[in-house]
Amino acid sequence: MLRRMAPALRVMLALAALSLAGCAEEEEAESLRAQLQGEDFRNSFRRAPGLARPLHRVDGPHGYFADIYVNGPIADAIDAGVPLSAWPEGSIIVEEAWATRESETPDFMLVMERRRDAWFWVSWQGDGSLLSAGEGLRACVRCHDAGADQVRSFGLPPL
Ligand code: HEC
Repeated sequence: MLRRMAPALRVMLALAALSLAGCAEEEEAESLRAQLQGEDFRNSFRRAPGLARPLHRVDGPHGYFADIYVNGPIADAIDAGVPLSAWPEGSIIVEEAWATRESETPDFMLVMERRRDAWFWVSWQGDGSLLSAGEGLRACVRCHDAGADQVRSFGLPPL
């Protein structure tokens, strides 16, 4: 399985192993996961702008294919079309990433949740084991700083 992963994925795994979340972050990640499952995010969230097709080919560092979902506060802000410099508090973006189209379950699940001062970042392996969690995680923002409000696959309203 490791051999079939893109090199960047292997690097991420190694980085994540080094920055294993502390206890508080672990609990917050777990409750966020329970919240997302409770909300049935795959059916109740909207797909990210420009990524409407299931298993979109992204060729990104998280996987070659991805499904990206956004929650209500993001969908509402997009619909309102009012220019923003940051997504509202409570915004959540979920990415499920696949190394190959054949795998039945995603290889990774990544979440960013907008808090008052920063995004809370979480990554899990497909089997649900936690890789990393925390606000302003260096392992995440080093790449995500390149996006508007640290989001890489779509911009801020108006879109
Ligand atoms: C090597 C650069 C890189 C690193 C490191 C990285 N990301 Fe990403 N991330 C991206 C890119 C590029 C995308 C756009 C979609 C794709 O390629 O999968 C993305 C997409 C995402 C998305 C969907 C929303 C968006 O911004 O488009 C989430 C959620 C996400 N990443 C979470 C994380 C988390 C959590 C971490 C840290 C554990 C992390 N990322 C580390 C480059 C990176």
